[in-house]
Amino acid sequence: MEPHARPDPAAAATPTPGLVANEFDGKPGLPDRFGRPLRDLRISVTDRCNFRCTYCMPAEIFGRDFAFLPHSEVLTFEEITSIARVFVELGVEKLRITGGEPLVRRDLPTLLAQLARLRTPDGREVDLTLTTNGSALKALARPLRDAGLKRVTVSLDSLDDEVFRSMNGIDFPVQRVLDGIAAAREAGFDPIKVNMVVKRGTNEESIVPMARWAREQGAILRFIEYMDVGTANGWAMDDVVTAKQIVARIDAELPLEPAQANYRGEVAERWRYKDGGGEVGVIASVSGPFCGDCTRARLSAEGKLYTCLFAAKGHDIRALLRAEGTAGATDAGLAAERDAAVRELVDRTWRARVDRYSELRTEATSHLPRVEMFAMGG
Ligand code: GTP
Ligand code: 5AD
Ligand code: SF4
Ligand code: SF4
Repeated sequence: MEPHARPDPAAAATPTPGLVANEFDGKPGLPDRFGRPLRDLRISVTDRCNFRCTYCMPAEIFGRDFAFLPHSEVLTFEEITSIARVFVELGVEKLRITGGEPLVRRDLPTLLAQLARLRTPDGREVDLTLTTNGSALKALARPLRDAGLKRVTVSLDSLDDEVFRSMNGIDFPVQRVLDGIAAAREAGFDPIKVNMVVKRGTNEESIVPMARWAREQGAILRFIEYMDVGTANGWAMDDVVTAKQIVARIDAELPLEPAQANYRGEVAERWRYKDGGGEVGVIASVSGPFCGDCTRARLSAEGKLYTCLFAAKGHDIRALLRAEGTAGATDAGLAAERDAAVRELVDRTWRARVDRYSELRTEATSHLPRVEMFAMGG
């Protein structure tokens, strides 16, 4: 048996008193003001990335002199794990590692091994997954798998090398990402999900070739509507190819029919090929917002909690962990005190949550100040 698969009572979360079965999904959970339970935590392990995707970190703005977080401001693996444990106690079932690009963080498998030991209050493993640009996956797929990572999602915007090189902003060849995906498959990740952001006039022509390729690979491809995340990408409504348009393009060549969601709150709307050749998803956060079912919180690399992808402000969890007297405490009493402070902040923040940005979006709101996606965690 692999180490991460062994139940570890020491790592099991203690149920938090006061959590009652939630009407949303019938499970104990922390409801926000609209009754949405906290189920997913997206953990950004770094704000750095080797890519400069035009829709996320345009190279003109994020040049050589851009100041990323200094090392001392980034959460340590121990801090991340202790925060994640509190979230799991509060009903979180899925942990997604993001960035920036998470694989640029040194020794990432060590963190995965720590997170893989967490258990839900009723003793289940957590769904541990990661979103990557795939550039370093060839070398890291196996160690990540061995550490206990269960699933992986790779971003890939085109199979056309020229289009891909220009969208990633650093002239990175598509073949190296394809090699990374192959390595992930060899390491045992199955299925592999692939995310493609569609931008009008840039990679629309890649939609159908990507769909054909993913079918052959047995990968689950999800098309993401270009979003107004952050304020640096110069987003305009005209650049968005809607989910409906994407589905129509594929359907014209590879007939599709709608499929049921896997679970309530699933971000992607699923479509299956009528010939049984698998499925694709569309993430319609612009044309068909899904805030009503949004159960996601985000933890930034510097330890701020965000309750919406479009938030302008986070809640400082790191300050609680590094408070004088408790920082780095190994003493059980102090550690418990520190965890209780984190729990109290998360509990209070989530219960007060009223975010539903995508449902309220207008051209005007897309210019409001907000944190960049790479800084918050995608
Ligand atoms: P599964 O666990 O595989 O179901 O993952 P997921 O559907 O949550 O997918 P993933 O984390 O890969 O998200 C895909 C993309 O959807 C992200 O990269 C974002 O672009 C977008 N997305 C995810 N969560 C949110 C959200 O809360 N709000 C908005 N507006 N977009 C989101
Ligand atoms: N619109 C849609 N998706 C985006 N991502 C980053 N920026 C945007 C945007 N502006 C997605 C990437 C990747 C994940 C980390 O976030 O495609 O899959
Ligand atoms: Fe990096 Fe991902 Fe942003 Fe692209 S989308 S610049 S790979 S963090
Ligand atoms: Fe959730 Fe905010 Fe995205 Fe709506 S816009 S789905 S509330 S993260």
